[in-house]
Amino acid sequence: MIVYKIIDSVMKYRFGNPVSTDAVVFKGNEINKEKLQYFTVENQQFLKLKYKMHKNDIVLGLGENLKGINKRGGVFESYCSDDADHTPDKKSLYGAHNFLVINGVEKFGIFIDYPGRVLFDIGFTHKDELEITINDKNLDIYIINGKSLRDIINRFLKIIGKSYVPPKWAFGFQQSRWSYQDAKKVEEIANNLIKNDIPCDSIYLDIDYMEDFKDFTISKKRFPNFKSFVKKMKDKGFRLIPIIDAGVKIEDDYEIYKEGIENGYFCVDEEGNPFIAAVWPGKVHFPDFLNKEARRWFGLKYKKLIDLGIDGFWNDMNEPAIFYTERGLKEAVDLAKESKNKNLNIHSFFNLKDSFENLSNNTEDYKSFYHNIDGELVNHDRVHNLYGYNMTRAAAEGFKEIEPNKRFLIFSRASYIGMHRYGGIWTGDNHSWWEHILLNIKMMPSLNMCGFLYSGADTGGFSSDANAELIIRWTQFSLFTPLFRNHSAMGTRNQEPYAFDTESTDTLRNTIRLRYSLIPYIYSEYMKAVKNHDIYFAPLSFEYDDKYSRYVEDQLLVGDSLMVTPIYKENAIGRYIWMPEEMLLWKASDYNYRDYDVINKGHQYIDININEIPIFIRKNKILVLGSHANNIEKLDNTQLNVIAFVDNKATYTYYDDDGITYDFDKGIYSEIVIDIEKIDDDYRININNKGNKHVKKLNFEIIDLRGNIIKKSLIINRVEKGDIK
Ligand code: GLC
Repeated sequence: MIVYKIIDSVMKYRFGNPVSTDAVVFKGNEINKEKLQYFTVENQQFLKLKYKMHKNDIVLGLGENLKGINKRGGVFESYCSDDADHTPDKKSLYGAHNFLVINGVEKFGIFIDYPGRVLFDIGFTHKDELEITINDKNLDIYIINGKSLRDIINRFLKIIGKSYVPPKWAFGFQQSRWSYQDAKKVEEIANNLIKNDIPCDSIYLDIDYMEDFKDFTISKKRFPNFKSFVKKMKDKGFRLIPIIDAGVKIEDDYEIYKEGIENGYFCVDEEGNPFIAAVWPGKVHFPDFLNKEARRWFGLKYKKLIDLGIDGFWNDMNEPAIFYTERGLKEAVDLAKESKNKNLNIHSFFNLKDSFENLSNNTEDYKSFYHNIDGELVNHDRVHNLYGYNMTRAAAEGFKEIEPNKRFLIFSRASYIGMHRYGGIWTGDNHSWWEHILLNIKMMPSLNMCGFLYSGADTGGFSSDANAELIIRWTQFSLFTPLFRNHSAMGTRNQEPYAFDTESTDTLRNTIRLRYSLIPYIYSEYMKAVKNHDIYFAPLSFEYDDKYSRYVEDQLLVGDSLMVTPIYKENAIGRYIWMPEEMLLWKASDYNYRDYDVINKGHQYIDININEIPIFIRKNKILVLGSHANNIEKLDNTQLNVIAFVDNKATYTYYDDDGITYDFDKGIYSEIVIDIEKIDDDYRININNKGNKHVKKLNFEIIDLRGNIIKKSLIINRVEKGDIK
């Protein structure tokens, strides 16, 4: 084992000779140490790490996974999986995010930088033991120390590098379904959104826009004049976001296939022939995204669609998902033939059934193909979790070459730590189940801790049928998630915001409008999280150390100022809330109508009607609120409402930039720093305007702990810097 100091309080322990994942962007210096901090290491067939948890320790992290924010009691396996049934017993979803934080007697983070199978047994087998088993002996382990949870997370996020930043329009509402299958249907969706006055920034194109599910092609029949159609939709206010799948159809005259074969850009089987699996188009090859040249080749293909006016994509089926291979199919069919006319008992019948059920995403298949990593053939199973990551990296690196200073929307289904530098993720094929709203709530802070800031779930649920109440409640939570997209599967009930009754459409319109009026806050908090290696969604335990806050699983802190307490139960008329301190409650039903209640510390029950979104402003914190428009580009935030809940002093930094380029990286952005201080019965407001030319007026509503409101307005372009009283 070689040990490196990466940055202050972060150590890297190198075992054997690992494959480089590029998850961590810092190199570090070699130092002398004999033992892995906190853990005992068993180095037998596999590497096994053990940590004795203390009674009240909580364990956070693991990104995209089932179970709670506190992962204690669970067992999880990092192995990117295309599994559409996110039931509580599942160990793996689409992402592999091997980062945990222990918050208890000892506080530290651990990142297992290994891209194959890793098992995390967090007190499942033995209630006080954390046991991590790695299917290899070549890997890097990082231990991150810090005084607080925030410290640990900031350091971890620093070593894995800054998050991807999407264009600002990607913070708008987005409408999707598998599938809006042709131009006529897409236009109908756009017109319905317009007719119902529902703000929306983009409409998604699922697999049916392609010719026979071939990447970078467009069906001439279903989208005859694609380029002019894209423009027409943009003129109406909607961007179109096509899907790109990992598998490349095997078809002689298909350009991508031909080039991939000619240049050896596909993954190969044991004999060195391009590996064959079947997905949407039937038989495909998988581009070898772990091979730099192949990655560049595929990444530049996005230009085909960019040239037609496309500004955003979603990368799918990149675990990679496999429906079947010839090997698996043959075995199953042979067994079926053998079984014919036999008297199958419990064992032989289930064996036969399993052989078909296990055709998809089978480990044997993942073990039977190879990548060319810098000239070395590496078995896929060892680097499985890097595949989706590198597909999305291909796209992002392509965009950088194609239009270096333009931000594109890109997010992926499969991912590994480090991919957050290239794109966001969505949380895959959930269901229209109330349980999945709660799962969505719990997953968001866990994903943020692993770097994934631009993320969100299929709002309303992908599989199964949703009713109006579920869509409303889910939308009321998703309006806080950076990626805010309603998506559903083929064959399910339509769930667009106008698909139900008029009353529900009215509620959803107001809910989505609220999202648009929250953009000044959401975007500021997102961008500050990026800049400061911080998170956007945090569990209560990040700010409040009391005994209850540590265990709260269904309330989140959003940015610096807000706590949200979503409703995720059917027929609920309110909910119980743990108030770690007094806060100001705004039950938002219409962005334009505000009244407030001060809610005291303690356990509280709050009534919440179907059209209300409970938003809590924390003590001595500030919310900036703009107005709404039907898409992000139309937002006119020359006036902002500043809602402050002030005991003695509150500060807020409102961030803004051009929303479309990377100029912010060169320091081209603006900030308005707002300070409010209580002096006797009045407030002193101090504004420091650092370059914002857009906002002209701030309308203050300052509320004290007794609920008294003072309103003031401030013309900002005259006060570049100064006090008013
Ligand atoms: C996968 C994706 C889903 C998409 C479908 C068809 O199931 O996760 O979002 O709609 O494929 O492309």
